[in-house]
Amino acid sequence: MRIAVYGASGHQGKLIVAELARRGLQIVAVGRDRERLRAAAGDAEVRVAGLDDADRLAAAFRGCTVVINCAGPFTLSGSAVVRAALAAGCHYADTSGEQAQIKQTFDLFGAEAGRAGVTVVPAATDGGVPGDLIAHLLADRLGPLEEIVTAHLIAGSGRLSRGSLRSLLETAETLWSGGLGYEDGAWHPTAAARRTTMRFPGGSSEVPVVRFALQEVVTVPRHVDVRRVEGVADAALAARFAIPIDPAAIESLPEGPAAESREAQEFTIVIDAVARDGRSARGVVRGRDTYGTTARVAVEAASRLAADGAKPGVLAPSQAFDPAAFLDALAPYGLTWDLTVDG
Ligand SMILES: NC(=O)c1ccc[n+]([C@@H]2O[C@H](COP(=O)([O-])OP(=O)(O)OC[C@H]3O[C@@H](n4cnc5c(N)ncnc54)[C@H](OP(=O)(O)O)[C@@H]3O)[C@@H](O)[C@H]2O)c1
Repeated sequence: MRIAVYGASGHQGKLIVAELARRGLQIVAVGRDRERLRAAAGDAEVRVAGLDDADRLAAAFRGCTVVINCAGPFTLSGSAVVRAALAAGCHYADTSGEQAQIKQTFDLFGAEAGRAGVTVVPAATDGGVPGDLIAHLLADRLGPLEEIVTAHLIAGSGRLSRGSLRSLLETAETLWSGGLGYEDGAWHPTAAARRTTMRFPGGSSEVPVVRFALQEVVTVPRHVDVRRVEGVADAALAARFAIPIDPAAIESLPEGPAAESREAQEFTIVIDAVARDGRSARGVVRGRDTYGTTARVAVEAASRLAADGAKPGVLAPSQAFDPAAFLDALAPYGLTWDLTVDG
């Protein structure tokens, strides 16, 4: 089984190639620059195809079971790669954290992916997948929900890769506005967070939070019966993302954080759910190293799509995978999760 990695020469792409190689999977490194791909992909097969040649891109994916796309900003590149994967008959997963573009993938490609008989899972990232899976498990326990609040907190070195900064630049407007919330059957760009403080696990006091354009807001309502979904981040993290970025300065930065710095970083995802009968529950995911975790999540998703398949169409993680089994598969990498139900 061959897995194509589009954008294999980037910071995230190299981590994904390394994880595929560690699992002994056959890799096809695809991108626009042969030299950079060759340098990144070791002994793997290299195929060159830019985004502007749809036929060549589809041909580069032929014979692969799954395409993992990590060529952000996805707002610019995502549609071309999904379209080519569908034309080549490949399942697809990506590492997009760009909320509006993730929603667009569902809106644009749902029917087409169904007709092509392939499965598309956008946002196969450290935050997007565990948050979505935990929300599903909470709904299993509580039944129909009034509200889900999903919150992200990162402690330790949170330096971003050049690619993440380019994605932030491309989506700055959405990000600064707090992105989409979900209410009564539709997504809305609403103004303020309903939740303004939150007590994170292990914390002794409430921490200020602000509305944040999280992936789960787009995916969770597709499989959970819920009236309202809101994404927030701790205000300190959001403030770091809100610093204006000089595009020229990005190019002078290192490609991404070094391994030691990634290892020192701890992330927490908290999902609070309130049932329509008033009961409440909290799910917590903790891990280290957001880029390393994203590589493991994307490869786990691709391996499961290749081995087991899933319903054709554009799917949320919980629609494509068994939530508890997927989370447990990440435990060897230090990811932990637990659920607490009140009442
Ligand atoms: N939780 C999350 O939301 C999360 C977590 C991890 C990663 N991500 C996202 O993953 C993406 C990748 O990050 P990164 O650090 O790997 O970025 P990067 O180092 O800049 O790598 C980007 C890759 O995409 C390729 N690429 C970019 N634009 C292209 C274009 N127009 N045509 C063809 N290839 C193109 C680059 O090819 P060249 O080498 O030829 O330039 C490179 O291989 C970012 O969008 C980041 O935000 C999100």
